Amino acid sequence: MRPLLIAGNWKMNKDLFETLAFLQGLKAYAHKHAEDRVQIAVAPAYPFLVTACDLLKDTPVKVAAQDVSANDDGAFTGEVSATMLASLHLPFCLAGHSERRQYHGETDFVVNTKLKQVLKNGMTPIFCLGEKLEEREAEQTNAVLERQLADGLSDINLLTGREIVVAYEPVWAIGTGKVATPQQAQDAHAFIRNWLMNNYNVAVAEKIQILYGGSVKPDNIRELMLQPDIDGALIGGAALKLEQFTAMLDTSKEVVKIK
Ligand code: 13P
Repeated sequence: MRPLLIAGNWKMNKDLFETLAFLQGLKAYAHKHAEDRVQIAVAPAYPFLVTACDLLKDTPVKVAAQDVSANDDGAFTGEVSATMLASLHLPFCLAGHSERRQYHGETDFVVNTKLKQVLKNGMTPIFCLGEKLEEREAEQTNAVLERQLADGLSDINLLTGREIVVAYEPVWAIGTGKVATPQQAQDAHAFIRNWLMNNYNVAVAEKIQILYGGSVKPDNIRELMLQPDIDGALIGGAALKLEQFTAMLDTSKEVVKIK
């Protein structure tokens, strides 16, 4: 079985003091309750990544960046390059989050370039994709996922399947409280895994962790994580409160015992 990866994406939330308070609490939790099959990651804002890496360095908690520049180093004011992130020894970096696509005009081509930057610099990208409400209503979900996969992963060679994590985040479920049903999520995950099987191979597709994101909460995480093709969660709002985040980690630990 693939391990579950439970990742908190804090987006543009938490200042330095809030970041420290949460991470100290999470460190204490991880120290007492570590379980190999439940991997933990948090994605704080850029200014706090160094502090987060330092604070969590002897713990199983991994730090992720929320985004990366598509460019190499150079004259790109305000951007942060993959080389810079890699110098922090960050294991993970998100790319293609729907908020980047929606508010910053990121195309599948840009997402593809970012994925290549992250991979080239030895980090694991968490490649986010998912359909909008109107696309689901028009029964275009699979077509959209197929396009995002084909364009996003264009010219990316995967040898083991451990090089990348995929996160299926239906846009209509993000921050809306409207979670996909476990069956809707499982169907999309199975479609993604099948695409990976056809475009890479069975062994690679079987190794890739596919996370679900979109209104994951302590009271719905269990049914989602029990689905055969759901290998973790990318959590926004409910990952901002330590008690909620650790409650979801506790539930995930129960799930891996029976999955
Ligand atoms: P919510 O959990 O707040 O819906 O956000 C999901 C998300 O976008 C994680 O990347």
